[in-house]
Amino acid sequence: MKFFVDTADIDAIRDLADTGLLDGVTTNPSLVAKSGRDFFDVLKDICDIVDGPVSAEVTATDFETMLSEGQSLAKRADNIVVKVPLTWDGLKACKALRQSGIMVNVTLCFSASQAILAAKAGASFISPFVGRLDDISEDGMALISDIREIYDNYPNFETEILVASIRHPGHIVEAARIGADICTVPPDILHKLVQHPLTDKGLAAFLADWKKTGQSILDRK
Ligand code: E4P
Repeated sequence: MKFFVDTADIDAIRDLADTGLLDGVTTNPSLVAKSGRDFFDVLKDICDIVDGPVSAEVTATDFETMLSEGQSLAKRADNIVVKVPLTWDGLKACKALRQSGIMVNVTLCFSASQAILAAKAGASFISPFVGRLDDISEDGMALISDIREIYDNYPNFETEILVASIRHPGHIVEAARIGADICTVPPDILHKLVQHPLTDKGLAAFLADWKKTGQSILDRK
């Protein structure tokens, strides 16, 4: 499973890139607004740090303008993935951008039928939003299972399932169990993946016992 980080915060991206665990980045207009920075400066900074796919979202809603925005974004770096919404115009833009060799992430997916259309439009990635479905008492992970099953029925579909709107580590474990290709995760949730109280308790006990021995590993030749 690949991990993307879902943020426009450069410090957080740099910190995670240093771990070697980061395979890509997703942004959206809300995350860019939260950063308070110029969109193109943010993209440049991210692409200077990360070699993997970096999703940058169009903000137009009509096909022609989406296409122009997508082409403009894709010019900024080789690893830019143009993010388009799951609308008719978004699907048309997906098809056209893919035909010119540009990677596309179709976002705001909330149903299996939408995911089928995105795959048929040649999307590089489909982004089903599990947390936002859970928020309205639907089952976000059931959608991931459905999409996995459907895509596996059609080997000519090359679209990767990018699980989005992740709210907690359980979403990531379940996505891995289902066989989703990628999770895009907010930085604080990526950090939570490593946490376990028994790890902390066990480490504290080992360190306390080691101290009693009076030994130091680095003192030895
Ligand atoms: C995906 O690419 C989106 O940026 C993101 O996962 C949305 O998550 P949210 O529902 O927490 O805003």
